[in-house]
Amino acid sequence: MTIKDLIRYGKNKLDKNNIDESLLKSKMLLEYVLNKKREYLMIHQDEDVKKSDESLFLCYIDRLIENEPIQYILKKQQFMGLELLVNENVLIPRSDTEVLVENVINLVKNNYSKTFKKVKKEEINILDMCTGTGAIIISLAKYLKDYNIKYFASDVSIKALDIAKENALRNNVEINFIESDLFTNIKNIKFDIIVSNPPYIEKGVIKNLDENVKKEPVIALDGGIDGLDFYRKISKIAKEYLNKNGFLCYEIGYNQKESVSDILIKNGYVDISCLKDYGENDRVIISRKG
Ligand SMILES: C[S@@+](CC[C@H](N)C(=O)[O-])C[C@H]1O[C@@H](n2cnc3c(N)ncnc32)[C@H](O)[C@@H]1O
Repeated sequence: MTIKDLIRYGKNKLDKNNIDESLLKSKMLLEYVLNKKREYLMIHQDEDVKKSDESLFLCYIDRLIENEPIQYILKKQQFMGLELLVNENVLIPRSDTEVLVENVINLVKNNYSKTFKKVKKEEINILDMCTGTGAIIISLAKYLKDYNIKYFASDVSIKALDIAKENALRNNVEINFIESDLFTNIKNIKFDIIVSNPPYIEKGVIKNLDENVKKEPVIALDGGIDGLDFYRKISKIAKEYLNKNGFLCYEIGYNQKESVSDILIKNGYVDISCLKDYGENDRVIISRKG
């Protein structure tokens, strides 16, 4: 088949199986298989595709029909303008999480002076707990280059940490990665900022999620019966790990503002503020150690 025929074939097959954005996805898969840019496909529409490439393309179309997220097939996702490696062992970073990163960047800029820290040779320590692909900590390291910051990131999943390490390498940033069930393996260190996008979906809701979300690791989604397990555990222990006036910053579910604020208040955190994502949903909570 030619490039044009294959794109059309893929699109029609996706349409028949109710996969959205069928044309775009068909084009993206063929670009990936041929290792060519979109422009090439447009200019060479009548070029014949090799049998082996055709089979691979059709195999990827079938994987989409099985509800595999396209990011897992293409092995990449854009986040904060950076390209990140993803696979089935990690949550695909969401654009909502960019709001958390943007707010932590602002928080650093508003509370810490680069020159002061450099002159005094002091460092700020930032920990990203439940790092997954490393999306949050890698973006912070990338966009806060002028600051004297030491970056740490932890996850309980070794497979996720392998992806995060590769992402740090590809994006040329230095992060200290720690394999740890929450704070268990984090010893002898205090942080100025702890940031986390922990699993926060209610256990009972997981079975009703979109089929392609259900292909993501359950360990990255399951926040316990009421979705709040991680906020309770992290908020309780984080106090011991935060420096005086240190910040605890969370991504939250759209309906978790009140419950997470309550957890923070009960644990003595102060200056609690909630910020919305671009869809006007409550998405980020920032608090300070009291
Ligand atoms: C919602 S994902 C967040 C991934 C990434 N930070 C992001 O924003 O895209 C949650 C992450 O928490 C990790 N996780 C789950 N249980 C954990 C635990 N007990 N200790 C540390 N990390 C855990 C999962 O492996 C997963 O990578």
